[in-house]
Amino acid sequence: MCGIIGYIGKKVKIERLLVDSLKTLEYRGYDSAGIAFVTDKVNILKSSGKIINLEEKIDENVESNIGLAHTRWATHGKADDINAHPHKSGSVTIVHNGIIENYLELKEMLSKEGYTFKSETDTEIAAALLDYLKKKGIWSNLEVIKEFETYIKGSYALGIIFDDELDTLYATRKDSPLILGIGKEEYLIASDVSAIIGFTKKYILLDNEDIVKLTNDNYEIYNSNLQKLDRSIQEVNWDVEEAHKAGYPHFMLKEIMEEPKVLNDTIHEYVESVDSFMNKMPDFSKYKKIHIVACGSAMHAGLIGKYLIENYSDIEVNVEIASEYRYKKVFYDKETLLILISQSGETADTIASLRKAKADGIDTLGIVNVVGSTIARECDQVLYIRAGVEIAVATTKAYLLQVAMLMLINIKLMIEHNKITNEELSKLLDDLKNSPELIKNVIEKDELYKDIANSIYEDRDLFFIGRGIDYAISLEGSLKLKEISYLHSEAYQAGELKHGTISLVEDNTKIIAIMTDKDLALKTISNIKEVVARGAKVVLITKEELDSNYDFIFKKVVLPKANNYLMPLLTVIPLQLIAYHVADNRGLDIDKPRNLAKSVTVE
Ligand code: AGP
Ligand code: GLU
Repeated sequence: MCGIIGYIGKKVKIERLLVDSLKTLEYRGYDSAGIAFVTDKVNILKSSGKIINLEEKIDENVESNIGLAHTRWATHGKADDINAHPHKSGSVTIVHNGIIENYLELKEMLSKEGYTFKSETDTEIAAALLDYLKKKGIWSNLEVIKEFETYIKGSYALGIIFDDELDTLYATRKDSPLILGIGKEEYLIASDVSAIIGFTKKYILLDNEDIVKLTNDNYEIYNSNLQKLDRSIQEVNWDVEEAHKAGYPHFMLKEIMEEPKVLNDTIHEYVESVDSFMNKMPDFSKYKKIHIVACGSAMHAGLIGKYLIENYSDIEVNVEIASEYRYKKVFYDKETLLILISQSGETADTIASLRKAKADGIDTLGIVNVVGSTIARECDQVLYIRAGVEIAVATTKAYLLQVAMLMLINIKLMIEHNKITNEELSKLLDDLKNSPELIKNVIEKDELYKDIANSIYEDRDLFFIGRGIDYAISLEGSLKLKEISYLHSEAYQAGELKHGTISLVEDNTKIIAIMTDKDLALKTISNIKEVVARGAKVVLITKEELDSNYDFIFKKVVLPKANNYLMPLLTVIPLQLIAYHVADNRGLDIDKPRNLAKSVTVE
């Protein structure tokens, strides 16, 4: 996905304003960037690479108070100056987040009308379509946009400037996120609140096919029939400081350090007392089966939920990757609950899975971080985690809270299915309330994680192994390492390695083994010895109750004594910090890894 910002209002040093605003969105996608600003015409500056390359081109003295800006995550065409946004065709300039699925069909039609294209993007075709409709000369610019929407298949969030209305900014969206910031004598459109928080805390969540018309002193919102709408104004619930590094070298480290606090905030919001807990958690009693659908780390959190719910509540849980679920034959019915997990609430594949299930009449519950996001709004019910703004592309605190929320959901399920006594319940809730303290203790062993990182950061291949819930955790450890350090690794069921993949193990192959499940510990030890016998060096992540002087282990992390139910919250912390230090040792851009984006709002 990408970051879009548009501004109109009292400020007049717009090139600096647009570039600085883009920087707050850079975590959303950053392979190229550009701005468009109005003087007596529309001026466009673009550059491939990071926003800093664009920054070198701006002239801070140019007077302008209307503009658009875009930081791109390419879907159609490589990341270069030509494909960077904004795109202009004829008299229309746009920035776009999303995918125009029928772009080839439109390109063919427009080519026959004499249009030629400089870029490889679907976006330039969208600009040409707007120009083509404009040139028919029978519609106002609002009507041109309304007509445009009837041609398009796919997703878009668009900022639009027409040459014949240079004092007006238009915007519209379908399936890609876009909000309208309401400032004092200034208005903004943006992909998310991080871009407007420096101007205003007031914003409007735009709905699909809303059309926005902004002038210096007014905003209007229309539906796709051009009826004026009166949308409610929301207030951002965090401040600018939260969106800064607060002295840490990277957002990722800051966000790991925030884990005890945000875990505390989330637990205390839901678990003030047993009564408040019962009131705040939904009634799950009618469901016989649960599906959990998500992408990436959110799916890994879902797998933890599977192990917990199946083992403690005796309810069958099916966890699926959203990009598969949305297209496959799914066996669900009225007694199935679909839980969708998403930090951003804007992940295209997860939204599509949600909409598929809703169309089939299935009840849906969202576990979401971003308030008012698409998934939060479209699920029948939503349980917000309180991670605050998460800037680093690699999720840490939000993943942790997704696991914590699944633990809370499972506790409610246990109560509804009489799987827990009142005494066990109050003990478990107390232990949950104390878990932030345990997380703090685990984080404080950071020197050990640095030492482990120093011993693996020059490796090329690495395995994570575990059994049961430890396998689910190993998947997250492997993804964290891969996505920020570019060191290839693979998570494997410890018992499965010997069925082929163990052939890759040779002298000095590093393997991170996770062993917190006491019922499977001896089996995991056997698997560790199998790989050590073939030259592997094993880093063991285990807990106090399972610790011993394993003399065949290369390095060891022993997690503090804790309620076994809560172990997944502790186990992932060393994996997050090991990944962080490996990437730091390798001198990489930890917060904005190559090729990635914070929320993938395209297929
Ligand atoms: C996690 O570190 C990744 N950045 C990625 O796997 C992420 O978890 C996934 O894209 C899902 O995002 P969401 O939670 O916003 O839906
Ligand atoms: N599909 C458009 C492109 O490839 C927009 C991608 C994005 O959302 O950044 O340029």
